[in-house]
Amino acid sequence: MFSGSFLVTFYLFLKIPVTFTTQTKCIDNLPPFSPEGTLNFCRAFSDFGCCNVEQDLHVKEYVETEWAKLNSDDRDSTYCYEHFKNLTCLQCSPHSFDLYLSSESDGNTNFRANVGLCGEFCHNFYTACPEVADRLLSEKASSSNAATFCAASSTEDEDTCYPDLSGTDTGEPLGELDCVCIRKLAEGLRNPLVLTHPRNGSGRFFVAEHLGVVKVIDKNENGKRTLLEEPFLDIQDRVFTTDTPGDERGLLGLAFHPRYHSNGHFYVYYSARTTDENSDHISKVSRFSVSEEPNKADPDSEKVILEIKQPGAGQNGGQLLFDNDMDDYLYITVGYGGADEETATDKSNLLGSVLRIDVGTEDDDSNQYSIPPDNPFVGDNDARPEVYAYGFRNPWRCSIDAGSQSSTKMFCGDVGDSTAEEIDLVEKGGYYGWYFKEGNLCRRNSSLTEECIDPGDVGVDDIAPIHYYEHTAQTGYVNAVVGGFVYRGCNFPNLQGLYVYADYVLGKLWFLKENPSSGESWLNFDLCFGDDDVCNHGYEGQWENPHFILAFGEDDGGELYMMATTNPSNTAATGIVYQIMDPSRRSDPDTCSTIDSITIGDEDDIPIATANQMEMPLLTVCVLLLLHIVQQFDV
Ligand SMILES: *[C@@H]1O[C@H](CO)[C@@H](O)[C@H](O)[C@H]1NC(C)=O
Ligand SMILES: *[C@@H]1O[C@H](CO)[C@@H](O)[C@H](O)[C@H]1NC(C)=O
Ligand SMILES: *[C@@H]1O[C@H](CO)[C@@H](O)[C@H](O)[C@H]1NC(C)=O
Repeated sequence: MFSGSFLVTFYLFLKIPVTFTTQTKCIDNLPPFSPEGTLNFCRAFSDFGCCNVEQDLHVKEYVETEWAKLNSDDRDSTYCYEHFKNLTCLQCSPHSFDLYLSSESDGNTNFRANVGLCGEFCHNFYTACPEVADRLLSEKASSSNAATFCAASSTEDEDTCYPDLSGTDTGEPLGELDCVCIRKLAEGLRNPLVLTHPRNGSGRFFVAEHLGVVKVIDKNENGKRTLLEEPFLDIQDRVFTTDTPGDERGLLGLAFHPRYHSNGHFYVYYSARTTDENSDHISKVSRFSVSEEPNKADPDSEKVILEIKQPGAGQNGGQLLFDNDMDDYLYITVGYGGADEETATDKSNLLGSVLRIDVGTEDDDSNQYSIPPDNPFVGDNDARPEVYAYGFRNPWRCSIDAGSQSSTKMFCGDVGDSTAEEIDLVEKGGYYGWYFKEGNLCRRNSSLTEECIDPGDVGVDDIAPIHYYEHTAQTGYVNAVVGGFVYRGCNFPNLQGLYVYADYVLGKLWFLKENPSSGESWLNFDLCFGDDDVCNHGYEGQWENPHFILAFGEDDGGELYMMATTNPSNTAATGIVYQIMDPSRRSDPDTCSTIDSITIGDEDDIPIATANQMEMPLLTVCVLLLLHIVQQFDV
């Protein structure tokens, strides 16, 4: 599954430098956003900031109420009003976290009652508007002169005081995709290879471990997503694998039937032993059913749908996918299994292919599946009718773009041999070049050649990958592409439509972006990423990366996850599920109903406890906003 020709048993300890250049954060510890609708009060933050229309109204009400309480001449001063308004509106600034941060010295994040004021401005302001100034401090800290007021208002960090940092004119691009954060959601998993869900909007999802166990991640009573100890399914008794790191056999695929909620069926792809001397093992696709308990499948409910003899231990493919809930078509990816050239190029066997079968007829016991009538090779005597596309080496992790409306848009990472890794967009009936191509490079008799084989000899033109890269790992390592997903979640608009993928050995992430002008070609970009420490504190940091990236997954809200491990042995409980998040920008908190999930940074840093320490009326507004937001976003 993972490697080129041989098992990869090496350990890599790469350090990937991560530099966040546009770190901005709201007081709730989350990224700023572009509000839906216009902010009529804090207009400066209408394009991008930390308030939506509702929060803007709260700020307006607060300013008007407080203003009405003033007794002094301040009340007639436009200067005072403007500044009072502008200072109060800074809670909507994309820099509000920094502007209100007082200290992290005691290990907690504490917020100031008022935004930090720069020295000269502070004195002028106090002189012009003493009563307004007093309103900005808590009553306890009430000041009697400019010196005490400004001492209380000063900040240690001269870069984060008003008006020098107003939050709009920092000269940096704000809200653009820079680096993503990976936030640990679950750990202790043994080679997690699939993360998927039965699409019912409950937020529950499932993780398949290589050795033959499926586990549930669901919200606990506090609404926090948790890995349940009790497995959903345990079929270790029939899964053939070993604990050798990089063994490609095991439980490789899991997909829920589109109507799982009515029929309780899901499908699993795994390696099983065989007595056939000419095969290493058998790949089985089986249907299982859920039991009376929603978090428990019935291991005795297995019905084998399809069996494929595997000539070798590796290149097994193993992705299972359903496209939509209009039909019962199951897509199955199968590697070439180390077979010879002819087999790999040939569509009269199931190896090296993406298959498509109709499992809607399976309840009839005599019939495991049927062939969709519009499969590309129906009626072709030289082909198996299950074949949907062929000429793959090891279509290891594939996904269907949930945003593809009219036709199936399936992406596969096809793991190469010794030269190149490719990402294919799988078209019905397409031939993808293996055994004669790796990426766009030509091969013949297991080595590269300048001169490509004549398509006439293969009988068909191959479809080029949308992207490929040549091997760069040092001697001893063999690169392996890990196909990912097109992001279709609601939370992170910068990621929308990007195809995120990785390399198993390099521990790197990239994304492909469709070139909108042609609609055909795809551009490739590095995607830098850091863990919580880097993301939360926004400093230039190093992400310690001792991990092999195993696979990606998607929840029912389209949010993206990455699975990695430090030891790719399927008995090592070192696997981690991370959620991929964009710290530069999120969606308006009112627009994403499915996101109960995002928290960037340490949960301890969410200023819920310190909210009580904010005594100012202004901060009462903040607290209300925070509570509002925290309720929505608490993990
Ligand atoms: C208040 O903020 C607005 C928008 O940024 C700005 O145009 C205006 O000059 C500010 N007023 C004062 C008194 O600084
Ligand atoms: C979704 O799944 C959960 C957990 O099994 C279940 O409680 C809920 O009823 C399901 N929702 C629908 C709409 O089927
Ligand atoms: C591979 O090598 C064999 C033996 O040298 C030769 O007969 C065959 O034509 C070669 N195949 C290709 C595709 O070049």
